[in-house]
Amino acid sequence: MSESSPSPHATAHATAQAYNDVAALYAELVRDALDHLPLDRAVLAAFAESVRAAGAGPVGDLGCGPGHMTALLRDLGLDAFGVDLSPAMIDLARRAHPDLRFELGSIDALESADGELGGVVSWYSVIHALPQDVASYLAEFRRVLAPGGHLLLAFFESEGGPVVAFDHKVTTAYRWPVDDLAGLAYEAGFDEVGRMLREPLEGERYRRGHLLMRRR
Ligand SMILES: C[S@@+](CC[C@H](N)C(=O)[O-])C[C@H]1O[C@@H](n2cnc3c(N)ncnc32)[C@H](O)[C@@H]1O
Repeated sequence: MSESSPSPHATAHATAQAYNDVAALYAELVRDALDHLPLDRAVLAAFAESVRAAGAGPVGDLGCGPGHMTALLRDLGLDAFGVDLSPAMIDLARRAHPDLRFELGSIDALESADGELGGVVSWYSVIHALPQDVASYLAEFRRVLAPGGHLLLAFFESEGGPVVAFDHKVTTAYRWPVDDLAGLAYEAGFDEVGRMLREPLEGERYRRGHLLMRRR
């Protein structure tokens, strides 16, 4: 990290504050979003089946926002819980899904014990991390996963270019080449199971990337 870069902690808190300010609007926007995204649902179903086949274990929806994805993971037969650093998001998630567990915390310093989880979903939750900080998030995901546990990453893909910042509506985010993110995850201790790229739909700007990885 250069002397002028903010710490990962400072970046994460600034991101969470930005989501705090728009939490209710964001929740409204994403509430039914997956209804129109069959490929995204297919990836989530494949993740859930892989976790169940490997013997399950709790699944962390890390950077869960208002909890709609946590609820979907539960509906797919998983013992899912959510973690987010935005108090407003956690409040919305708890109110919308009182039967599920949601924790306030940072996903680069999780409460979970080593090897406790069967699965981790990071659905657009590391897109705002500075590129040089993403390896430390992946290391934390590996720490909490049991060997053979699955990680699902969803992100904006860079379509042939390098890692590049863009003006995401909430706060600056980064688009990643799928090979670079897969390589970083490999270095962090994950083997690739598969990937899905889908082109932007109407109203979306960028290609979406999805990586399904297994912890070595
Ligand atoms: C783009 S939203 C995605 C929310 C949800 N996964 C979804 O798909 O709708 C990013 C979320 O990650 C959370 N987040 C970002 N960095 C975080 C961190 N270090 N720890 C916990 N949550 C974080 C934000 O507060 C926000 O709710």
